[in-house]
Amino acid sequence: SLAMGKLLLLVTVALHCTATVVSLSPALQAALVDTSKLAAGMPQQVHLAVTKKNTEMSATWITFEDVPQQLEFRKVSTSKLWTIKADTTKFVNPSNWVRYVHRVTMTGLNPGDKYAYQVGRPGYLSKEFVFKQLPLQPPYNILVFGDLGVYNGESIPSLLVDAAQRKYDLLINVGDMAYDLFSNNGTVGDQYFATLEPLFATVPYMVVAGNHEAEEAYNANYTTYVNSFTMPDEGYGDNQFYSFDVGPIHFVALSSEYYGFYYLYGMEPVFNQYEWLKKDLAEANKNRAARPWIVSYFHRPFYCSNENSEECNAFENRLVRDGWLNMPGLEPIMIEQGVDIAFWGHEHSYERFYPRTPTYNETDQPYANPGGPIYVISGSAGCHSGYAYFADPVEYSASRINDYGYSRMFVPNSTHILFEQFSAEKQIVVDSVWISKDGNHKFAPKLQEEQVVICHPKDMHCHRAQAGEKYEVVH
Ligand SMILES: *[C@@H]1O[C@H](CO)[C@@H](O)[C@H](O)[C@H]1NC(C)=O
Ligand SMILES: *[C@@H]1O[C@H](CO)[C@@H](O)[C@H](O)[C@H]1NC(C)=O
Ligand SMILES: *[C@@H]1O[C@H](CO)[C@@H](O)[C@H](O)[C@H]1NC(C)=O
Ligand SMILES: *[C@@H]1O[C@H](CO)[C@@H](O)[C@H](O)[C@H]1NC(C)=O
Ligand SMILES: [Fe+2]
Repeated sequence: SLAMGKLLLLVTVALHCTATVVSLSPALQAALVDTSKLAAGMPQQVHLAVTKKNTEMSATWITFEDVPQQLEFRKVSTSKLWTIKADTTKFVNPSNWVRYVHRVTMTGLNPGDKYAYQVGRPGYLSKEFVFKQLPLQPPYNILVFGDLGVYNGESIPSLLVDAAQRKYDLLINVGDMAYDLFSNNGTVGDQYFATLEPLFATVPYMVVAGNHEAEEAYNANYTTYVNSFTMPDEGYGDNQFYSFDVGPIHFVALSSEYYGFYYLYGMEPVFNQYEWLKKDLAEANKNRAARPWIVSYFHRPFYCSNENSEECNAFENRLVRDGWLNMPGLEPIMIEQGVDIAFWGHEHSYERFYPRTPTYNETDQPYANPGGPIYVISGSAGCHSGYAYFADPVEYSASRINDYGYSRMFVPNSTHILFEQFSAEKQIVVDSVWISKDGNHKFAPKLQEEQVVICHPKDMHCHRAQAGEKYEVVH
């Protein structure tokens, strides 16, 4: 029921937004763009995204005024210019602020080649940005980050240095952005996109929604999130779930928030996503020899070991993992279909887990031909709530770090992936592990699942009970 959901939500907010006063580093203060200086008729906040085709790249940007927009691009090595008129949407937020959102998909691109582009209109063009169309073969350098705010976004200066050095081929953001995109009449989102434009306009920026994108106070169904991005289209038009291929990896982006806010926005999105996921993973498995890795990402973790462990074990995580009522959870299908890796955020720290197998860390090399999915929480990029702290590790915890920072995935070839956690504070790699997989490797046919304890939404202490104990479910 709605009342129940609201209670759950209040508890979540209380746990997540214990806003401590943190002092911002001078580097962050210097990096933040002053949005009061952004001109109304100028294009701004440019960000790229991949589409379902490896010969395309989409660009999305905004203006404050209703002005026609276009995108001009050329191969860096030539001067022949292609011009495409933008599709423009007038976005009116329910709290009555307006942005004009412009979108263009560049087509006919050659994988591995570099392209230069500008957006705007004659006389009022943006600066020129350069990106590399993702090559068909490794190596790839991929950034993974989550829970990055503007206020106390301590990874921002370091990310901007990485952008200037062209470190990445692809950006994966596991949700909770800006805190929040729609806050202060959208100006917090403006500052987030404007500050990170050097990164987002030069590397495809792939996102999923976190709970901070839900806009539940206005019952607005993620509207600012939906209107801010252009993710690959799976026919639902809401940027919440999609897949795309990069060399040996099939990426699958999912919404944990469909589950988290079902009491408000309905169960239908959960069912739509699950039906799509079944087909998508079955299709990916037909092609496993050519594309051996399946990497998923979504916002809320199945497991964590943070101090606010109510949140790690309570209803919201169980719901996404195991399902509830007639909503199917995501873990059984991921295990059945052999999803190799899942990235999460939500907890404002980094936690790497041993592969999700009954014997988790029993071998000397658990990450060589892993027997189950490998989970990583990367939610430590920095936001208003300051450092996250840990409780006792859980069964699968392998490494836990709460420095502000972000994760990197280096893919040298189709059999190996290197994970690294980079501390933005110390400017060093603080955790790293190689994952490898032989061409014909498969998970055990069906991993032994522990008995699922179904918890009532209001029962935040359910997880403390012994397995096998019965719970009364009250509707
Ligand atoms: C949002 O805009 C309205 C109307 O312009 C204004 O009254 C209000 O103070 C603004 N709110 C914030 C938080 O900036
Ligand atoms: C919210 O949006 C989703 C699509 O993302 C739609 O399926 C759902 O019905 C919407 N819910 C409400 C209450 O409008
Ligand atoms: C496996 O985990 C246990 C408990 O966390 C730990 O004591 C042990 O050292 C770990 N073994 C390996 C091989 O990492
Ligand atoms: C893939 O990369 C790893 C790590 O650099 C290396 O050890 C391995 O030999 C490479 N495999 C192939 C087939 O090149
Ligand atoms: Fe979150």
